[in-house]
Amino acid sequence: MNVLLLGASGRIGQRIAAELLERGHEVTGVSRSGDVPGIDDTDCKAVAGDATDADEIAALAEGHDAVASALGPSEDETADILSEMAAAVIKGLRQTSVDRLVWTGGAGGLNVEPNTMLIETDDFPDEFEPVSRAAIDAFEIIREADDLEWTYVAPAAQIEPGERTGEYRSAEGELVATADGESYISMEDFAVAFVDELESGDAINTQLGVGY
Ligand SMILES: NC(=O)c1ccc[n+]([C@@H]2O[C@H](COP(=O)([O-])OP(=O)(O)OC[C@H]3O[C@@H](n4cnc5c(N)ncnc54)[C@H](OP(=O)(O)O)[C@@H]3O)[C@@H](O)[C@H]2O)c1
Repeated sequence: MNVLLLGASGRIGQRIAAELLERGHEVTGVSRSGDVPGIDDTDCKAVAGDATDADEIAALAEGHDAVASALGPSEDETADILSEMAAAVIKGLRQTSVDRLVWTGGAGGLNVEPNTMLIETDDFPDEFEPVSRAAIDAFEIIREADDLEWTYVAPAAQIEPGERTGEYRSAEGELVATADGESYISMEDFAVAFVDELESGDAINTQLGVGY
């Protein structure tokens, strides 16, 4: 597959790029600077692009089989830039022949029980609320796009750099947690789940929770 990866310079984006390349896919990695650290230039074409600009996204996306996103708000911007990016990416894709979008989402919008999202639970940390709300807003925009084949892949409550085990569980719309309530996934295994979905297309127009 020939994949345009938005947010390729980010913590999760770099792991998705590595996973795609390991499986023999072609990757065009996008960041604002045009640098994608940690990935050899000969493997991954790195280009500059602004994900809030629909026309730029359209020009970058054309000719790819799919667009993948690991976009996140940078420290100098408010979290709500995320929904602006989601809207621009969708608008951009509609100008192209590319209709597959796999998006890295947030755990806060996943259900912990029917009709209760993680963000609505009493011990949800205040510090994560703005970015979590922004990720939910981005999801609302993406899920309206029924002319596209999107998948919104949301990690467990905790996601950190770690080991690639190749193991994970996924659940439609639900936070994945162990029997003792721990919700965790390494960034490397999140990338495995993300690329599995990109390759299989098993969860089209679905919000997918991923964890151990
Ligand atoms: N448990 C959870 O729910 C959880 C935990 C962690 C992360 N996440 C979500 O996962 C996503 C990725 O997280 P991360 O930690 O990997 O983020 P990150 O390291 O901050 O990376 C963000 C990426 O977005 C890019 N970016 C930001 N603004 C851009 C713009 N206007 N145009 C183009 N690229 C832009 C950055 O590129 P440059 O700055 O190089 O241009 C960078 O590659 C985020 O949406 C985050 O909310 C969820």
